[in-house]
Amino acid sequence: MKVLIASKTIVATDIVSFELVSTVDEDLPAFSAGAHIDVTPVKGVTRQYSLVNNPSETNRYCIAVLLEPKSRGGSSAMHALSAGEFLEIGEPRNHFPLDWTANHSILLAGGIGITPILSMAEQLSQAGASFELHYCVRDEARAAFRQRLDKSDLSRNWKLYTDTGPSASRISFDEVFGSPADDKHVYVCGPGGFIEAALNSATQLGWRDANQHREFFGAASSPNADGAAFTIELAKSGRRIEVAANETAFAALSRVGVKVPISCEQGVCGTCLTRVIAGRPDHRDLYLTDAEKATDDQFLPCCSRSLSPILVLDL
Ligand code: FES
Repeated sequence: MKVLIASKTIVATDIVSFELVSTVDEDLPAFSAGAHIDVTPVKGVTRQYSLVNNPSETNRYCIAVLLEPKSRGGSSAMHALSAGEFLEIGEPRNHFPLDWTANHSILLAGGIGITPILSMAEQLSQAGASFELHYCVRDEARAAFRQRLDKSDLSRNWKLYTDTGPSASRISFDEVFGSPADDKHVYVCGPGGFIEAALNSATQLGWRDANQHREFFGAASSPNADGAAFTIELAKSGRRIEVAANETAFAALSRVGVKVPISCEQGVCGTCLTRVIAGRPDHRDLYLTDAEKATDDQFLPCCSRSLSPILVLDL
């Protein structure tokens, strides 16, 4: 759908927020905390951004965008937009929902990962639920939404950690997570390396996988495209496509004109998710859960490969 950029605001170093409203003065489709939308700042470039506003607001979507130093075109195109311009977006989807059976929620944000975490905190606060929010940034100037955190009901429930500066205070994941319990849940969002370090700590402390929730904003490192060559078979036509050892399945499909939607190209967003009909994928993404990977009925061709000589796809 098309929306209007009602406002654009600098909220921290290299981070701008956008307020998006309907072009026909109507409510926007409802969302829950943790949801994201697809945004197309320029033709051919689609990125996912978490909604940072309170889900009780029906008249607007708010997102925040970090200018990536190695932007592949998404964040730089977003930063070039101005209030008053129009933007193509998709309806909200949520792969990072709150578990409302929890008696206590630990919310952990790294950098721009604050966006879904702040929306979650506000929804938990509004519901009177027990939670705490831990926000890690490189330095204070990179901490977005400070006023909103300090001036709202959240002020008693959150803590800031910085890597540098006079008041540097590094987080101890072990201390923050503490002892696991079936009715405690932890939610982590941020860069891949931050999430991996946090959840490794939770796992070592004995936290069950089902109580750990994550949303990746970029992989820790680029997925490795190398591996053995394999063959993709398109179920609808029976056509076979060879995937060379040094190319991705997505690249091989594109080479012969087969279109698969693509966005992050890092196995974190799920845009390229494709159904597998036969064969055994070599999952290299950060998007599917271990349980989903074990079923071998879907894979992400931007980064994943095949353990079987032939992978039959629902294309
Ligand atoms: Fe994001 Fe493949 S494009 S997971």
